[in-house]
This record gives sequence, structure tokens and C-alpha cells, in this order.
Amino acid sequence: MFVLKVAVEMKNISKTFADVVANNDVSIKVKAGEIHVLLGENGAGKSTLMNILSGFYTPDSGEIFIHGKKVELTSPREALKCGIGMIHQHFKLVNSFTVAENIIMGNGNSALRLDMKAGIEEIKKVSQEYGLQVDPKAYIWQISVGEQQRVEILKVLYKGADILILDEPTAVLTPQEAEGLFETLRKMAKKGCAVLLITHKLDEVMEVADTITVLRKGSVVGTVNKADVDKRKLSEMMVGRETFLRTGKIDNHPGEELLTLDRVTVLNDKGIKALKGISIGIRRGEILGIAGVAGNGQKELAEVIAGLRKAEDGRILLRGENITGLSVFDRINRGISYVPEDRLGKGLVPGMNIQENLVLKKYRSAAFSRGAFLKISKIREASREMIEKFDIQVSDMYSPVKFMSGGNLQKTLLAREVSDTPDVLVTSYPVRGLDIKAMESIYDLLIEQKRRGCAILFISEDLDALFQLSDRIAVFYGGQVMGVLRPEQTDINEVGLMMMGSKKTGVA
Ligand SMILES: Nc1ncnc2c1ncn2[C@@H]1O[C@H](COP(=O)(O)OP(=O)(O)OP(=O)(O)O)[C@@H](O)[C@H]1O
Ligand SMILES: [Mg+2]
Repeated sequence: MFVLKVAVEMKNISKTFADVVANNDVSIKVKAGEIHVLLGENGAGKSTLMNILSGFYTPDSGEIFIHGKKVELTSPREALKCGIGMIHQHFKLVNSFTVAENIIMGNGNSALRLDMKAGIEEIKKVSQEYGLQVDPKAYIWQISVGEQQRVEILKVLYKGADILILDEPTAVLTPQEAEGLFETLRKMAKKGCAVLLITHKLDEVMEVADTITVLRKGSVVGTVNKADVDKRKLSEMMVGRETFLRTGKIDNHPGEELLTLDRVTVLNDKGIKALKGISIGIRRGEILGIAGVAGNGQKELAEVIAGLRKAEDGRILLRGENITGLSVFDRINRGISYVPEDRLGKGLVPGMNIQENLVLKKYRSAAFSRGAFLKISKIREASREMIEKFDIQVSDMYSPVKFMSGGNLQKTLLAREVSDTPDVLVTSYPVRGLDIKAMESIYDLLIEQKRRGCAILFISEDLDALFQLSDRIAVFYGGQVMGVLRPEQTDINEVGLMMMGSKKTGVA
């Protein structure tokens, strides 16, 4: 039997941000030729550790050895010199450049433009070798998210990386694309690369990992071989107790149609049709899931319902009333709530504290103000109630929400929106990047709203979440509805294919 060599050794790494210990005396060994998964709840310290390995952060203490040699990784460039490349969740590609330009540039060599032809040949070779299909001459804005990810991977391979780090790479992919990515990762491992992968999805871990290191609250819980564990054991290691996602379905008798979109056409920011005459309806007490690769009209769909974007054509009806021309404000008053995808942007005000954020929409109402004066004690009381009811973890009522974890941010945002008891709730990517526990509480929250009779539009790229929660799933592709399905009558593969453009006739 041959023994794999250690490619990366991180020894006693600690890193503190202000008063948060993100990594606490972490030691980990990653072998060349293995796929090593980092697992842990939100805030466990996974990204911090990988940002240290890829030179984005400097550790407060600890040592790093690459192929047995001690290194100081003072910058991403320095890390890349040691063969370490990181694929971030938010790609760093230049939209107006071609694939080849993106891969070749940034190599620090200005003479490279001349080498474009040779470069393209090299790219083709590498992409063949690893099964990473892309057209080197296509512009980034022309290609899908999955293809952009392949470009990011090619970019680091092209620069000679043999230690590859991927932070939640499948969150944005269709199941078929994710399968393709795993194929590529296996090929890399086979060729002797060390692959480090962060994911929250235990199915993926069981499929692709050789070795798994679990982090909890900044410390290593343990490193195990995949062969020696199962999903139950892993979730136990992660949270210290067993967790299982409950299934979201409740006995369901949706009522009348509350919201109707009738042949709605909407333009995107570039003036191109993002929705091409779509018709869908959501009933009282129903969760309608919207599946699709991001960028296929979901954002415009949410915005046209909320009133943030104009319908070029078609009608939107709320309880039969035509609201197509109404303002955001009028729609809120009629019972439409919208939870946007960027929690800290359009959703919450990062610099304001949780109380301010919770009453943000209502601070002018009689309950919270008299003339120019805010009723501070009333605001505090209402916030406390919401924090308790929605089980939001806050260490400090007065510190800005930007320091809260993703799961708690999402809960705060949803708490605010559902406290109005809306008839229609539009929610975009509410469980993106959340760990199992946080996801579960968001599910509970949505199910409670559904039970109350709310019509919920649930936009997500997470097919597991869509299948768990939705009564029906509408699949979007290129601004059109490819079909509407019932989760119990379809499977992830069929939906995945529709997300890539295959059409299904007949409506569930
Ligand atoms: N730049 C930063 N400034 C302040 N605190 C930070 C910073 N980066 C991370 N933290 C904190 O450090 C802890 C670990 O965060 P990290 O991002 O490493 O977790 P994670 O395991 O990647 O979580 P997730 O699954 O949510 O991505 C968290 O409490 C986080 O709030
Ligand atoms: Mg992270």
C-alpha cells in the first residue's frame, strides 16, 4: 500500500477578530491526493482557516508547512507561489474580459497579451485534462455561473496550484453541475492535488470526501475517514447532538389564489427581457418554490411583485385586485412582504442595531412614535418580543447587525417582515449559506406563516430546501417557466435538467 504525503500542515493556528475567537489552536494535516472536507456550523471558523491558508488573513499564532517546508503566507500571491489557490464563493472575474483573458491575466506578466494564442492552447489542454469545459473566447458575462466557477478553477490550475481550496462551491450549481465539479475534484486528487472543500451538505460530504475535519466554535472536534462515519455521526460531531432536518410538509389544503401573475414581462437592469410573459399563481397557505440557476429571472420576479420593478407587460393581481401600477408602499399596506437576497444591503441596515432594524419599517407608526419623538421603550419592548419569539441570538442589543451570523441575520429580516402578518411573502434565498440548525429554524418560521394562511414565494437554488418545503416548484430558465411540479411527483434530476432549459408540459 502506498502512503499519501502530507501536502499541508497547519499547526496550532489561532485567529481572533475583536473579541471573537475564530480559530482556536487548530491543527490539521491534508494529504496530497485526497479530498479533505471541512465541516462545521455557521461561524465555526472554516472560512477563516482557509483564508489563512490562502494568504488573505495572517494568523495570530501557529505555523504552516507546505510539502514539509515552513512558509509565511503573507498574501494570496505568496500562497499561490506555494501552490495554494482558493476558489471563493463570489467570483472575482472581470465581466468584460474573455475567459482566456481572465485566466491568463493577473499573472503579473504584462507581456502576456502576446502569448494569448499559446495561452489559449494551454487552457484547452488543462480544461481537457480535468474535464472543465469552457470556451476560452467567450466573455464572462455570456457564460453561466457554473462555467464561471470552472474558469476560476482553471485560473488557479493554470498558475500551477496543486493545493486547491473551495468554499461552498456547490451552493450556486445545478445538481448536474455539482456532479461535474466532483468529477473534476476527483481527477485532481488522482493527479496528486490536495483538495480542501467546505460544504454544509452532508450528502456531498459522503459522496466526495476522503477525509473530514469537523470544526466547532473555532476548535477541531476531530479528523475522520469518510469510511468510518455516516451523516448522523457527522452532524453529532458538528453540533454536539443529533440533528435532523424535519420535513416541512404539513397537511395542506391551500385556499384561493392570493397572488396571480398574468403574462408578466419585466426588463432587467440592462434593459433585456428578464421575464418573458410568465404566468404563475400562489394560493393561501401554499409555498410555491422557484427553482433555477441564479440569474434566470428570479430577482426580477421578486422585485416586480414587491413593486420595486415595473412590469412592461401583463398584470399582477392580489386577491383579484389589479396591483400592477401600485407603489411599493401601497403593496406593503395591502399585505405583500419582501425579504431580499442580500441580507446586509437591501434587507437590513448593517450599521444599525437589531432593535432599529426590527422596527425599521414602522418607526413612524403611532405605536413607536409621537410627532418627532420615538417611543424608545416601546421599540425596545417590541424588539425583545420578536427576538424571543424568533429565537434570534444577540449578544448585544446595541451593536450593529453587521456582526451577526448569517442565520441570525436571516431570522431578523424574516422576523421583521412576518411581524406584519402579510398575506403574501416573497423570500429570496433565505437559507443560502446556513447550517442545518439555522436552516431548520428558518423552515419552521416559514411553515408557521404557511399554516397561518400566508401565500409564500420561496426562491432558492438549494434543491433539497425546495423539495423539503414547497407544495409546488416552478422551474425558471431564461425568464420563462419550464414547468410547475409537485415535489412528490418529480426528482432532483428532472428539476436539474429543467434548470438547464428542458421543458415540461402540463401544470401541477
Ligand atoms: N473579518 C472578520 N471580522 C470580524 N469577525 C469575523 C471576520 N471573519 C470572521 N469573523 C467571525 O469569526 C467567526 C468564524 O467565522 P468564519 O467565517 O470562519 O465561519 P465559517 O465556519 O466559515 O461559517 P459559515 O458556515 O457561516 O461560512 C464568526 O464568529 C465570524 O463572525
Ligand atoms: Mg464560511
